[in-house]
Amino acid sequence: MSPQVDRVRVVDGPEELAEAAARAAVAGLEAAVEVHGTATWVLTGGGTPVAAYRRLAAHDLRAGVEWDRVRVAMGDERCVPVEDPESNWGQAAAALLDHVPVPDHQLLRPPVELGAEAAADAYQETLAALPATGGRPRLEVVWLGVGEDGHCLSLFPGHPEVEVADRLVVPVHHSPKPPRDRLSLTLAALAGAERLLVLAAGPGKADAVARARAGDDRLPVTRAVAAVRAAGGEVSWLLDRAAAA
Ligand code: 6PG
Repeated sequence: MSPQVDRVRVVDGPEELAEAAARAAVAGLEAAVEVHGTATWVLTGGGTPVAAYRRLAAHDLRAGVEWDRVRVAMGDERCVPVEDPESNWGQAAAALLDHVPVPDHQLLRPPVELGAEAAADAYQETLAALPATGGRPRLEVVWLGVGEDGHCLSLFPGHPEVEVADRLVVPVHHSPKPPRDRLSLTLAALAGAERLLVLAAGPGKADAVARARAGDDRLPVTRAVAAVRAAGGEVSWLLDRAAAA
């Protein structure tokens, strides 16, 4: 399968980014449901996607998705209670998941209350039980944020978790970005992504985005994009002007 050429879309600012991302979610989920009957959407944590989650919760857009056919997972999670402002799931629930009719059993929240190790093992099982293509759990739509250091998920430059190839989910204990204890999908899991959307906004992300797009594989986000492309997945970048500079 020939590797796809990345799509790159640059929009003015954070508001336009939220609008474009929310519309991309509708299109991606509906296209996947059309083909497979259901779709798994892997959300990203961090602050960048929150406005897009909120925008998608608005009636005019949320009506465009058959939510009963969507499973929602989280690409990485911090080991904090879901009520904690640092919780990726808590943030996504407040902005979107509490406002759309995804059946409870299709809300695949990482059970971080178990501790990073046990939660990673449990979430590995959850992902392994998803419908598969080519022996890999199929992740129809995956969103990734990017850190200023080029990290994505909770995979940080130079950290051992980046190299894990025999697991879908890993515990993370020394995250340079607080909180330190987390769980994260691996690059091996991302190889199951059909549509990857990388979101970045602000001048602080410009260097990492430029290096990743130039193929600097010291950055986990570069490796993530390469893993998706190599498995035949579609890669899109959605950037605001400052991040694309
Ligand atoms: C996390 C994230 C992380 C995030 C980037 C960008 O849990 O911290 O999943 O990978 O996407 O750090 O974060 P911002 O969007 O807040 O800049």
